Amino acid sequence: MATITHEGESRNLHKGRTIFDYADELAVQVPTSCGRSGICHECIVEVTNGIQALNAKTDSESFLRDDFRLACQAQVERKDIDIGFSTLRRTPKILTQTKETRTEIDPVVTRRGNTILYDGEEVDSFRGHIYGIAIDLGTTTIVMDLIDLETGETLRTSAFENPQRFGGSDVMHRISYDGQYPGELRKAVVNALNHEIEELGHQLGFVRQEVYEIVVAGNSTMRDILFRLNVQSIGQKPYRSLIEQEQLDGKRGSTTLLAKARRLGIRANPQTRVYGLPLIGSHVGGDVAADLLSIDMPSQKEAIMLVDVGTNTEVVVGHAGRLVCASCPAGPAFEGGLITYGMPGYEGAIESVSIENGQFLFKTIGDIKPVGICGSGLIDVLAELRRSGQMTPKGVFSEKRRQLSLVPESGITLSREDASNLAQAKAANFCGQFIVMRNFGIEPLDIHKLYLAGGFANYVDVRNAVNIGFLAPVPFDRIEKVGNASIEGSRKILLSRRKRAQIESLVENIEHIELETTSDFFEIFVEGCQFKQMPTEFKKLGAQEPIGFHG
Ligand code: FES
Repeated sequence: MATITHEGESRNLHKGRTIFDYADELAVQVPTSCGRSGICHECIVEVTNGIQALNAKTDSESFLRDDFRLACQAQVERKDIDIGFSTLRRTPKILTQTKETRTEIDPVVTRRGNTILYDGEEVDSFRGHIYGIAIDLGTTTIVMDLIDLETGETLRTSAFENPQRFGGSDVMHRISYDGQYPGELRKAVVNALNHEIEELGHQLGFVRQEVYEIVVAGNSTMRDILFRLNVQSIGQKPYRSLIEQEQLDGKRGSTTLLAKARRLGIRANPQTRVYGLPLIGSHVGGDVAADLLSIDMPSQKEAIMLVDVGTNTEVVVGHAGRLVCASCPAGPAFEGGLITYGMPGYEGAIESVSIENGQFLFKTIGDIKPVGICGSGLIDVLAELRRSGQMTPKGVFSEKRRQLSLVPESGITLSREDASNLAQAKAANFCGQFIVMRNFGIEPLDIHKLYLAGGFANYVDVRNAVNIGFLAPVPFDRIEKVGNASIEGSRKILLSRRKRAQIESLVENIEHIELETTSDFFEIFVEGCQFKQMPTEFKKLGAQEPIGFHG
């Protein structure tokens, strides 16, 4: 008999039963607040195989595309096909680590005796704790730090997948989805945040009313969706959020947002405020502003480069006196999307690889049987295939094979098409770093420090990343992995008014460039598609006469 499977656990199929029924049996937690009636839209699951064995989508599921279903609506109709499903709350390994540094403690929320004050205004009586939450609201992953605002201590860090996955894997798809089904993406993320706050409360013994401030660092789209803003303008030239446009029109002083949590649907204290970090420009959002605070940009005298790797990679080059930035639409390939055996950094993902004497050696997250390959593993695979002569810089496999078998016993392969998708994602990263450096008037060897942040960056083998041109050839000892710099920056903002003011003024002076408008963008992109090191002298790339750099 065919079965239904969730993370390796299976049950026999019975006609008429819903995925929610099976989730109960398999002890899989699926969120719900409507009694399984199709109204709350919280029980979204991804059907990973066998979707044809289920009933057709019901009216309540008309907002869902592809293989996403509501667990309460998806019923087994055929018993001859195996079904697999996963929830939208898988916990990735990536992103939870930060380079936590000491911060002064001077939060907006304070206590005078038994009175809690928000910016000097009475908001509540002391209930036992004064907590705040810092959130890194990523397109793929959400990280939350629960922080004691009196001691500055991080009490718990939680990381989970952004449940908006059903609206597409990158910001452009999310924007178009939000245009078609307004409010669904916001609801999904708010539900996930509420669920997490409640869970933390149970685990650590506090009530949600003791959370008085929430700081959110997100790219322009993620942030504005949460703040109930229309994000359509971010998806069309000149890719500006309504807030950025209002600032440019002189209608507001800054792109920072502040709203009551209650208005956004977040369950905390009735007086809780949500602070959205200021945007830098276009797609470069508050997450990068938080990164800059985390690496103490306001005090950097020498030229540095920040590369925050993700579905959209952001690059910032400069020093406290002048900063240039760009956003590179790398797409989801290095996060596992578009790659046959690609996957995010969950258990079972191959995270590091070497090829020795023709043998493919690897390590998986959790040291279990390999299921697929995550970003750091993919960078290693590409670099090792190049080093061992099994792939040309153009991504052609030896003997012109269409596919390489990486782990035969698990059936894990890498196809030509996978290599080509990775080449394009890498080229976006390459273009961003190259064009921003050139615009600033600097070459890789002039970079005093390269800070590598975000996503899977902490697990990346820097040497391999440089060898395939994923990272600029800055000397290895000047490359520093800073983990999830965005959550660290948000934490600082939650704890310090001075830092808040500092970042608000720093972002005002960052020059933002649109990569595609660079006249030789196409040539640079083509060069960036090759799996080889970026030149250290830019004229070798046939670049335009550069602005003020030597060589
Ligand atoms: S449980 Fe509410 S929509 Fe399925």
